[in-house]
Amino acid sequence: MKLSSRRTFIGMILVWFVTIFYLLSTMNEYKTSGNQSNQDHLFQAISSIRDVKHQKEEIRNVSELWREIKILQEKLLQGSTFHHQEARSNVETDVKGPSLHHEEVRRRVETDVDEFWRYMKSKLHKLRELSRGKDTELIVNAMLEDGQALHRSAVNDLYALKNVDDIDEWRLKESLELGEIIQKRLNSLQHPKNCQKAKLFVCEMKNNCGFGCQLHHVVYCMITGYANNRTVVIPATHWQYAPSGWESVFQPISAPCLQANGVFPERDGHNILRPDVSSLVGVENDFPINNDYLPLAVPDDIADRLLRFHGNPAAWWIGQFVKYLLKFQPSTQKAIEEGIKRLNWTTPIAGIHVRRTDKVNHEAGKHEVEEYMVHIDEWYGQLKERQPVLKKRVFLASDDPNVLQEVQQKYPGYDFISDQEVSKSADPRNRYQLTSLYGVLQDIILLSRCNYLVCTFSSQICRLAYELMQTYNGDASSNVQSLDDMFYFGGQTEHIMDVREPHVPREQGEIRLDWNDSVGIAGNHWNGYSKGRNRRTGETGLFLAYKIKDRLKRAKMPLYNVKESVS
Ligand SMILES: *[C@@H]1O[C@H](CO)[C@@H](O)[C@H](O)[C@H]1NC(C)=O
Ligand SMILES: *[C@@H]1O[C@H](CO)[C@@H](O)[C@H](O)[C@H]1NC(C)=O
Ligand SMILES: *[C@@H]1O[C@H](CO)[C@@H](O)[C@H](O)[C@H]1NC(C)=O
Ligand SMILES: *[C@@H]1O[C@H](CO)[C@@H](O)[C@H](O)[C@H]1NC(C)=O
Ligand SMILES: *[C@@H]1O[C@H](CO)[C@@H](O)[C@H](O)[C@H]1NC(C)=O
Repeated sequence: MKLSSRRTFIGMILVWFVTIFYLLSTMNEYKTSGNQSNQDHLFQAISSIRDVKHQKEEIRNVSELWREIKILQEKLLQGSTFHHQEARSNVETDVKGPSLHHEEVRRRVETDVDEFWRYMKSKLHKLRELSRGKDTELIVNAMLEDGQALHRSAVNDLYALKNVDDIDEWRLKESLELGEIIQKRLNSLQHPKNCQKAKLFVCEMKNNCGFGCQLHHVVYCMITGYANNRTVVIPATHWQYAPSGWESVFQPISAPCLQANGVFPERDGHNILRPDVSSLVGVENDFPINNDYLPLAVPDDIADRLLRFHGNPAAWWIGQFVKYLLKFQPSTQKAIEEGIKRLNWTTPIAGIHVRRTDKVNHEAGKHEVEEYMVHIDEWYGQLKERQPVLKKRVFLASDDPNVLQEVQQKYPGYDFISDQEVSKSADPRNRYQLTSLYGVLQDIILLSRCNYLVCTFSSQICRLAYELMQTYNGDASSNVQSLDDMFYFGGQTEHIMDVREPHVPREQGEIRLDWNDSVGIAGNHWNGYSKGRNRRTGETGLFLAYKIKDRLKRAKMPLYNVKESVS
């Protein structure tokens, strides 16, 4: 029944089309010639249209027909979007985002804009001191205010440029894909098919240092293992931070057969007796082999791809190891998730990590909350120009519970989010309790999830958060402002930067840089100047920070077969 009615309908449509076609094709002729016989044809056509009209009663259910047309239409549309997607992913695989040169120049401009404003700001502040009470003070103040606005505008323009044509999507895709490859390589290296034959590298956890320091130590072991094709094992013994050992908190880093074997490097003084098992003694630089592979080097085989989408390849690379290590046992996972839930985490959010109790005065200087907040203020100023900001949220991680009260009093316009339990447990007296470890882990994870972070790179926690942040973003290399050091890795080889413009000393403490010189960088003072050692002259001192540029260190490492390592 249904079928026959459809047939009738299709038949009618055909008649209709033929008629129309005929009409159109004869129309011209008819108009010009006025041929009687053509006119006859026209009448015939018109009458057949009438026939069609007469037959319309036979269409029993127009809505059914309409539905069918709709389905057809949807199918067609689906087909075309499918085509579209296919075409786009082809473009992605073929074109692969902006060129490396484009990205290098763009990042260069970003740095220049920042260094320029740091330089100007610092000099203007000096000038303001000199012009107190004079007419020029007003001008300097205006310059500081307008300069700030101009800088913000330039930063936002560059931000927009970074994401022109949704390039950020491409960055994210690249970052996740390459990250997946590294995770698979690590997984396969750490889970050798033959436990007995695998060459091992024992990572001894005897450093008496903070948790961040210990975690970085394991990263150090893992990078050494990766570069030497050795499986890293952690002895399942007592560990300061969790008396029942690493695996009571984290998932095992290597195949269970290796732990069960209870392998230990047999050592006779410094001579390792079993060449298939070696270990790293406490001090990072002790490992007696060539250490060119150490950060800030990245593996040669991924360097080109990595440098294209990321502004700090070494941080991304280290981040992959942090990601591999931070796989929690269910109990740890649960404790951390509950903590995060308590905080009602929502984005956008900025983060500050204010370190007070332990390290200050020993390793690092104290930084007042104002120093952090000036950057947070600036960042929210930029964000507001890009999107509406309802609440200015700041995640505060600190080892001192009093900091929360201080920032709440001083910055009422902000919504501070902080886990006071974590701050209390970070007290050095509680340091080796499990809750304290959960707290540190929660801090690292939350800091890494902030859209913008202000902390001190002298802190291992701050660096861990920064490293981890890179693994789930496209390029978050400039989402952090350090108040002290530049990014570094404990035990890294010399960080070398190239001179791109000569520097002539102007004041005491500055050094000369020439074309083709290179510098072992010591730090950026965040006031337009950096400090370093001219590797040609041996002089150490200051120069304008924009005059040097990073040189990516590539290290030949084993070429792990990705397909082989798919687990
Ligand atoms: C009119 O049409 C008929 C048949 O199509 C044709 O034989 C005749 O020559 C035409 N006359 C003119 C004036 O075009
Ligand atoms: C036409 O089809 C719709 C559902 O597709 C139905 O609800 C309606 O009763 C039908 N009408 C006739 C006249 O069959
Ligand atoms: C989280 O949200 C709940 C319900 O809205 C509220 O009761 C609680 O105080 C909030 N917690 C924090 C830390 O803001
Ligand atoms: C810098 O090095 C390049 C290549 O090594 C050389 O061609 C150039 O002359 C050098 N420039 C100076 C100023 O020494
Ligand atoms: C690493 O060593 C194993 C043997 O232990 C070997 O089968 C594998 O091919 C090596 N991988 C690389 C990338 O050299």
